[in-house]
Amino acid sequence: MSIPSFGVGTFRLTGQAAIDSVRNALDVGYRAVDTAQIYGNEAEVGQAIAASGVKRSELFVTTKIWTENYAKGKLVASLRDSLQKLRTDYVDLTLIHWPAPGNGVALAEYMEALAEAKALGLTRQIGVSNFNIELTRQAIAAVGKGEIATNQIELSPYLQSHKLTAFLKEQGIAVTSYMTLAYGKVLKDPVLAKIADKHQATVAQVTLAWALQLGYAVIPSSTKRENLASNLLARNMTLDAGDMAQIAALERNGREVSPEGLAPAWD
Ligand SMILES: NC(=O)c1ccc[n+]([C@@H]2O[C@H](COP(=O)([O-])OP(=O)(O)OC[C@H]3O[C@@H](n4cnc5c(N)ncnc54)[C@H](OP(=O)(O)O)[C@@H]3O)[C@@H](O)[C@H]2O)c1
Repeated sequence: MSIPSFGVGTFRLTGQAAIDSVRNALDVGYRAVDTAQIYGNEAEVGQAIAASGVKRSELFVTTKIWTENYAKGKLVASLRDSLQKLRTDYVDLTLIHWPAPGNGVALAEYMEALAEAKALGLTRQIGVSNFNIELTRQAIAAVGKGEIATNQIELSPYLQSHKLTAFLKEQGIAVTSYMTLAYGKVLKDPVLAKIADKHQATVAQVTLAWALQLGYAVIPSSTKRENLASNLLARNMTLDAGDMAQIAALERNGREVSPEGLAPAWD
């Protein structure tokens, strides 16, 4: 995989909460940070990174372009603005945040603008987020096979997106699971609780280990240093085939996020 398998998310975190969360994450060992223009926290993420003392070359920073910046004349300039806020010369990965069909900018236009940002050295890799199979195909057609590092999608034990993940695997595109914990919903699940007891682990660790074992990258967020630290330990867990089968059976098309006008027709 060309992207780190474990990072910290920053959605919903603003101001001091964003600074503290990123600072704690870097402190306990995270080296990848996921932000977005629309989160309104790029400056705070940049501030926390600068204060951490961690070398830029050891970090993997992802941002996402917001829909109002998709036009050819805007995307690169908006990314330069993000870089300034993040206090860096480049990001490691830039994603198109939502396909946003009908926002007036054609998919080929924004994908080409994203590829231009990469050619200019503003981002090391490019990718998409919340794209269905058909739109991912169109993105590949626009910028070429092998250019799309990841499709960042909602994916949890309650929403496993088998068709889309199989397609992405076939195309060699990494899957990044966002809201792996279903924003906390899966933490109350009795099946996961039983597996967690067996391994003397937390439900969050079991859920994250499940996604990692399927080959997905994860970016859980937390406002709490102890949760950030314990989530990272999911990397050391191994679930057995029985555990994996029980978690597979939790699928219920439990989608949490599907904003009108931004989301595609899901597969
Ligand atoms: N591309 C997209 O459109 C998109 C959309 C949504 C999210 N994302 C990205 O994905 C990241 C993850 O998603 P998310 O933050 O929405 O949801 P999430 O990671 O599924 O869940 C975060 C929630 O789980 C809680 N939590 C985390 N670890 C815990 C633990 N060990 N024990 C108990 N509770 C725990 C957190 O509460 P505490 O603060 O109390 O720990 C927080 O309320 C985002 O931050 C963002 O970077 C991307």
